[in-house]
Amino acid sequence: MKFLFKGGRVIDPKNKRDERCDLLVERGKIVQVGKHLSPNGSQVIDADGLWVVPGLMDMHVHLRQPGREDKETILTGSRAAAKGGFTSVLPMANTDPVVDNRGAVEFLLSEAKRVGLVNVFPVAAVTKGLKGEELSEIGELASVGCVALSDDGKPIHNAKLMRHALEYAAMFGLPIIAHEQDPSLFEGGVMHEGYTSTVLGLRGIPSVCESIMVARDIELVKFVGGKVHFAHVSSERSIELIREAKRQGLAVTCETAPHYFSLTDKDISCFDANFKMNPPLRSEEDVEAVKKALKDGTIDCIATDHAPHTEQEKDTEFDAAPFGIIGLESSLGLCLSLVHTGVLTPSELVSRMSLAPATLLGLPKGTLSIGMDADITVIDPDETWTLRSEDFESKSKNSPFVGRTLKGRAKITMVSGRIVMKDGKITKGD
Ligand code: DOR
Ligand code: ZN
Repeated sequence: MKFLFKGGRVIDPKNKRDERCDLLVERGKIVQVGKHLSPNGSQVIDADGLWVVPGLMDMHVHLRQPGREDKETILTGSRAAAKGGFTSVLPMANTDPVVDNRGAVEFLLSEAKRVGLVNVFPVAAVTKGLKGEELSEIGELASVGCVALSDDGKPIHNAKLMRHALEYAAMFGLPIIAHEQDPSLFEGGVMHEGYTSTVLGLRGIPSVCESIMVARDIELVKFVGGKVHFAHVSSERSIELIREAKRQGLAVTCETAPHYFSLTDKDISCFDANFKMNPPLRSEEDVEAVKKALKDGTIDCIATDHAPHTEQEKDTEFDAAPFGIIGLESSLGLCLSLVHTGVLTPSELVSRMSLAPATLLGLPKGTLSIGMDADITVIDPDETWTLRSEDFESKSKNSPFVGRTLKGRAKITMVSGRIVMKDGKITKGD
């Protein structure tokens, strides 16, 4: 099947392209980009007024399979991803059982293939059972196709173990995705520690809980080498430390999530547990620091930390509810607000959502270069729409953004030359 994307704004930061032109896809690959390409028997997609960008990659999602298929599965998570404009996702290892062995990685890959919607690149656990005691068989996990290692959801509190993890992972070229949280500073906390937590009478999680571990792991990278990618960075101080580490040329990268630039701890005053996630929503100063770091590239990429939970679990007191919110279907709309408010250029946004995660993970994605897999997202940057819970493809509905009007959404998601989503409808994988 041949497709010609006609007259769209083609934004491809890797090739420094941001111009109105055509793009031709043939047999699953990108074969030509340029002006006035002739259809030559291809299906023509009118992209006038739309952006044509390399498929979005979400390098931090929780798909809950195996173990909590009541919250999400590879199928429903893939559908949510396709709907949100994502062509690739990286599911975290904190499932039940944990993805800490060859069989678990192989299961994810075969299930993703069976579903056949988006690319699923598994992240395997750093430690067996996420217990933080003994390293997983990193070499074996790498050999069967995990692309990074993470105990996400939990910190690796033992510095010696983290040191060894960095050393082993480096032998296979894999980054460690670090969930930074000092256990003693975290204990019992449910929201950001500050004025609002005091007023609301909720136990706080101070921002130093994150930055103290960021500082430790920067020191470890300096000492033993290896690559650390800091997951869901939320605090100004963490960002300062990462900026300085990058200035020194250390192999550190990081991500933030849309909620860390869209909401603050003040939004929790409704006591709605859909505003509860880990790390927590932080102060206005932190939000400003996150935006600045997205602009200057200190924050490499935006990932959702899509964390589905059931309605029963979330519909309880703030204290008792689990941490986490879904994000795959709201991310692009929230991220486009950074463009609409002049924080990022379109090309910078495409880099944070596609090129940068692919590059830091060493995956051959994130560009529209000739010969690449035709993973493409077509975006209407100006369409205004309202996020409604009944429209979610995700099995879970735990989003604090339900009811919010967003500007901009994905119109087409194409994976390897197949359209998997068009105008909000999933077109394959039922
Ligand atoms: O809010 C969160 N939810 N943060 C995490 O790190 C884990 C995640 C989950 O698995 O629910
Ligand atoms: Zn996570």
